[in-house]
Amino acid sequence: MRLVVLASGRGSNLEAIMETVKIGKLRAEIVSVVSDNANAKALEKAQSHGIPTKVLSIKNFQSRQDYDDALAKAIEDAGVDYVVLAGFMRVLGNGFVRRFRNRIINIHPSLLPAFPGVNAQAQALDYGVKVSGCTVHFVDEGMDTGPVIAQAAVSVYDNDTADSLTQRILVQEHKLLPNVLQMLSEERVEVSNRKVSIKRNNLNREDGGL
Ligand code: GAR
Repeated sequence: MRLVVLASGRGSNLEAIMETVKIGKLRAEIVSVVSDNANAKALEKAQSHGIPTKVLSIKNFQSRQDYDDALAKAIEDAGVDYVVLAGFMRVLGNGFVRRFRNRIINIHPSLLPAFPGVNAQAQALDYGVKVSGCTVHFVDEGMDTGPVIAQAAVSVYDNDTADSLTQRILVQEHKLLPNVLQMLSEERVEVSNRKVSIKRNNLNREDGGL
């Protein structure tokens, strides 16, 4: 399975994917890491694993359409099966989403449909929920609205800060995303009528959240 990973920042989810590939638990090749942010730590992490990187800055494009076209071209040139959004903080245009329907997956730090958009962990704390978590889903034209593939839950404690909750959710993100990629590589993920079903799902729901 050939992957392009899109990342805007720290790149800890990218690192989790790279490590899972390295230890042979995920049969996939990350053919390229693309960022909209030239200073993204994710780029350094990719380079240290010998993965080619590309920066596409929005400021170098006349329009959002031009940006999405360049991004789509970079992905098509790389010839990939899936596009993985691992902390990619730009909303993709509808044309882009249609071009790669059910082939773009995103990880989001809440139990969707609760708390879409930015600062999901702070939104969860503000609301006062007692359980939050992370979601891996296919990307559709909405904001964090696409078909849910898998979720993992974490407790929210009274003394949590956005940082402490973020860290607790990240631990689960780093298991959930590689697990989903593994299931995709084994062609065990089916989408029908916006609903995802997983064939032969024998993973423990308490450990990895599937
Ligand atoms: C992760 O928590 C991811 O779920 C979140 O950004 C972080 C990226 O961390 N994504 C979103 O909020 C998307 N709406 P990372 O760069 O260390 O992987």
